[in-house]
Amino acid sequence: MPEISVLGLGPGHPDYILPVARREIERADILVGGERSLRDLDKRGKETFVVRDNLPDVARFIRAHYERSMIAVIVSGDPGLYSILRFLRKHFKAEELRVIPGISSLQYMYSKLGLPWENACFASLHGRNEDFVDQVRRCSKVGLFTDSRWPPEKIARSLMQHGISDRLIFVGEHLSYETEKITRGTVAQIAASGGYSMAVVVIMDEHEMDL
Ligand SMILES: C[S@@+](CC[C@H](N)C(=O)[O-])C[C@H]1O[C@@H](n2cnc3c(N)ncnc32)[C@H](O)[C@@H]1O
Repeated sequence: MPEISVLGLGPGHPDYILPVARREIERADILVGGERSLRDLDKRGKETFVVRDNLPDVARFIRAHYERSMIAVIVSGDPGLYSILRFLRKHFKAEELRVIPGISSLQYMYSKLGLPWENACFASLHGRNEDFVDQVRRCSKVGLFTDSRWPPEKIARSLMQHGISDRLIFVGEHLSYETEKITRGTVAQIAASGGYSMAVVVIMDEHEMDL
């Protein structure tokens, strides 16, 4: 049965790409992925297909090529967390997909904070509207994927509007890159800040800092 590999690139810096993922990328004839994911890869001798708002085209493209070519679908972080994997599973059987894990940007963020995350909840505001306020009420530690419609300051303002102001917020931008920046603040401080880009957010009860 032909196989499509779906592999996680990690948070972004090449040092965080697993060797097994690198080998899959080298073996592939066709790389399918978002612009940022494809940007830093060696694409010599390979065809590329850029994923944008074109998911039906992605499925058609893969279907048309996967019997004759080795296809690697590249995602950021880990494929199991808010990636194209869920969509691909609707079009291809599990046996047709070889999923290779990667280090999630949230996993990386918790390591930078020096915190275990086995008790963490998470949600995504990247292209969706999951109820993070409810998560923050229920969990003492919540990790969020953000996007330009839901930047960290808007998340903090929304918490304030729902009467939640006694949490610590950490914003991790450009994680693993040279421009990486981690900002710590109260809900009010983050609500009054701005200018963030490519960020995850961790919202915590203060006692979570004292292990
Ligand atoms: C569609 S989600 C994909 C999550 C990915 N599967 C993972 O496990 O990290 C994209 C979001 O991940 C976060 N993200 C990915 N890479 C990042 C990085 N290097 N630094 C900060 N946030 C990052 C951002 O919140 C971005 O909007």
